[in-house]
Amino acid sequence: MPIFCKPSRRRDENLPRLTITDKSPWRLKGGMRKGFASGYFQYIRRHERGHSRPPDLPRSPSLNTSLNLAPPRPSIEEPVLENIADALRRDGYIVLHAPLPPSLLGGMLRHFRSIDDDHFKRAGIGREDEHQLDRSIRSDRIFWLDRDNPYVSAYLNWMETLRLGLNRHLILGLFDYECHYAYYQRGTCYKKHLDAFHGSTNRVLSTVLYLTPNWQPRDGGELAIYPSVLHGDPDAEEPLLRVTPRFGQMVIFLSEEFPHEVLPVQRARYSVTGWFRVNSSLGGTVDPAS
Ligand code: OGA
Ligand code: MN
Repeated sequence: MPIFCKPSRRRDENLPRLTITDKSPWRLKGGMRKGFASGYFQYIRRHERGHSRPPDLPRSPSLNTSLNLAPPRPSIEEPVLENIADALRRDGYIVLHAPLPPSLLGGMLRHFRSIDDDHFKRAGIGREDEHQLDRSIRSDRIFWLDRDNPYVSAYLNWMETLRLGLNRHLILGLFDYECHYAYYQRGTCYKKHLDAFHGSTNRVLSTVLYLTPNWQPRDGGELAIYPSVLHGDPDAEEPLLRVTPRFGQMVIFLSEEFPHEVLPVQRARYSVTGWFRVNSSLGGTVDPAS
């Protein structure tokens, strides 16, 4: 199993699934199989009597909106989006203090903690095709995310809304978003690095969302972000800013520009690291979405 096992990105994965068998007391109005999304809610009763209604189907079409089969795409208010876009254009980074609802964060934290330790993999470093495992550079462990969990799915929906909004404001051509949980045990760190090297990766924007409750200054584990290698002093030893991994806080920065490091952590640290990517050609091969 490669270290960077990518999550499957089949586009229809977030659509609700419904298996309809010949024995089903329900069938779908004509055209359903062709126009899946548009016909999805159009159930009609095959038999007026004799079958109990499956509990997950609507009582009538008018109640369809109460179904929560596909999480709605959350909105991000326009001024918030403009603020993020302006900061990225001007500074190349932004720290958002509480962009996501606490219920979503709590659900993700529960999911994170429910995952067996064995499922977290040692993370690699370096270019995506030259993975090395160097514990002295990076000692966190990671778990790639997909839409299996509803809270992760809601998070991915929020990031999708952000992706579309940033594309609209900044014309970045962001193509998709990939992310993993990162688990730093006491004593681990991630030394100064860049997430992307110009011309060798598709990663454009890095995002980190923090999920450890009650982070205290004595817990260490700050994210130190150094000046831009393109517009600042590439040899700077002093960070431009330090981000406390406070529950619910999110940082977004340009992947190719900002070297950063995770200072040694003194207690378990939970986060979600992700990248908005472009679908550019690397070494003559087009990077596919799956
Ligand atoms: C990374 C990373 C920063 C953090 O995973 O590449 O730099 O604060 N994470 O967790
Ligand atoms: Mn990084």
